[in-house]
Amino acid sequence: MEASRRPEAQVDILYSAAEIAARVAVLADEIALSLGPEPTVVAILKGSFVFTADLLRALHHHGAHPQVEFLTLASYGAGTESRGQIEILRDITDDIVGRDVLLVDDILESGRTLAFARDHLRGRGARKVRLCVLLHKPGKLKTNVVADFVGFETPDLFVVGYGLDYAHYYRELPYIGVIRAAR
Ligand code: IMP
Ligand code: MG
Repeated sequence: MEASRRPEAQVDILYSAAEIAARVAVLADEIALSLGPEPTVVAILKGSFVFTADLLRALHHHGAHPQVEFLTLASYGAGTESRGQIEILRDITDDIVGRDVLLVDDILESGRTLAFARDHLRGRGARKVRLCVLLHKPGKLKTNVVADFVGFETPDLFVVGYGLDYAHYYRELPYIGVIRAAR
């Protein structure tokens, strides 16, 4: 059998699946009130795929009819924080000229990822780009990005699960946890 590359670590639950679900429902209320009925939801991959899937289904309960696009980005450097240079690995595929866009990401930290994505979508002709993040780590902003919708203000800890990874693992966890490296 192939040796596991998964970093051995203990994960302490920060937000349970139930807490996340409750928060996503409230976020969907806010989003549905302030966006038109047919927004284009753009999920930044890979980190936001679980959050976006739940958010879309919550939006359905408000009668929204969103279109969905995916934007795959990478930031240089293999560390736990984006390093400034962002690269498009896979662009959206549909025309967004004149559309109201809800841009969704997992975490807002320096804001470099979201600033890049927002500017890119504006460049592709979006009428309005609103920003939604599951987690916001305050005090780390290095750009002028302001999230319109935030799931949780979260402590400055490295978190995993619900789409978020550590060394490409742990995305499948149904909760968000704090990683504790094995001693
Ligand atoms: P920013 O570009 O500095 O705002 O960083 C946001 C990106 O860094 C997110 O989209 C995540 O991919 C990554 N990131 C930042 N903090 C964490 C974390 O605690 N766990 C997993 N990924 C993180
Ligand atoms: Mg990410």
